[in-house]
Amino acid sequence: MTRILVTGRTGQVGSALYERLATRKGILFVDRSEMNIAHPEDVHLFLRQIEPEVIINAAAYTAVDQAESDENMARCVNRDGVLAMAEWVDSVGGLLVHYSTDYVFDGSKAGAYVEDDAANPLSVYGRTKWEGEEVIRESGCRHLILRTSWVIARQGKNFIRTILRLGAERATLNVVNDQYGAPTSADLITDSTLALLDKIELEDHHLGTYHLVASGLTDWHAFACFILQVAAGMGLPLKLKPEAVQAIPSSAYAVAAKRPHNSHLANDKVRQEFGIQLPAWQEGAEPVIRSIVAEIMQK
Ligand SMILES: NC(=O)c1ccc[n+]([C@@H]2O[C@H](COP(=O)([O-])OP(=O)(O)OC[C@H]3O[C@@H](n4cnc5c(N)ncnc54)[C@H](OP(=O)(O)O)[C@@H]3O)[C@@H](O)[C@H]2O)c1
Repeated sequence: MTRILVTGRTGQVGSALYERLATRKGILFVDRSEMNIAHPEDVHLFLRQIEPEVIINAAAYTAVDQAESDENMARCVNRDGVLAMAEWVDSVGGLLVHYSTDYVFDGSKAGAYVEDDAANPLSVYGRTKWEGEEVIRESGCRHLILRTSWVIARQGKNFIRTILRLGAERATLNVVNDQYGAPTSADLITDSTLALLDKIELEDHHLGTYHLVASGLTDWHAFACFILQVAAGMGLPLKLKPEAVQAIPSSAYAVAAKRPHNSHLANDKVRQEFGIQLPAWQEGAEPVIRSIVAEIMQK
């Protein structure tokens, strides 16, 4: 019997989980070809065959702008497939660990968002992720909903790779500086998830919704400059110097989906309840940048 099923093996968080856990017994990692979450009936069928006790759902429809014109599919993946997993877990008294996002908030709060603040997503992605959270809570299954933000990893598409690619091609770049958040490494998410799971085994009252983000705050413009500084310090040839990155407001950068200005998630609850240390975002970001730069320099 498979004890733990992990979805989204090819994603940023799924890959980090895979790196840590692949050799452990009783854990099965699946990708879209094995269990397509957009099809709840297939999910039910697959889960009945595998019979997991714990599901870690690292799969999601994460293409934020594309979701604006692909709402049905985003909802199938982020709500309906999630409900199928919640129903299974509930039927066996198992546990669902599910990731969610800062984009469930509208970003209008003056300070950091706490877990109980009212959601008001601005985008289809944010709305479908919120609906996914809600169906989990309504299902009554034992669950951990872990909201994270600005995920970065060695594997997969992310802001670091985009900046390094553009930095090699261009001498100037505009980046928005009025969206604030904490870049959070997939390794930190993985390590924290595993620490949470250890505690949950013993104490059920810790179940619920948590913000799982690195500490501190930055904006995309400052983060882009940080990436370029680390890369330049390693000797990566770049056309773009950090001082040539222009800060612009979101209103000057046309994208399909609206993003919250304030993505600051308070992480006190997870620290207080579980004693988990969530370091400053730079501590997680720098090794990821270094690793991606080293990979580029080897090519
Ligand atoms: N990325 C961020 O900045 C960010 C921010 C806040 C919260 N989050 C949340 O954190 C979690 C992990 O995000 P991530 O950055 O690791 O995402 P990601 O890199 O985009 O990976 C998403 C994963 O979901 C899989 N997937 C998508 N549709 C699927 C389907 N129909 N059936 C099965 N698998 C499917 C993808 O498979 P394919 O490779 O086949 O597409 C991929 O493995 C998600 O819940 C996300 O909402 C992410």
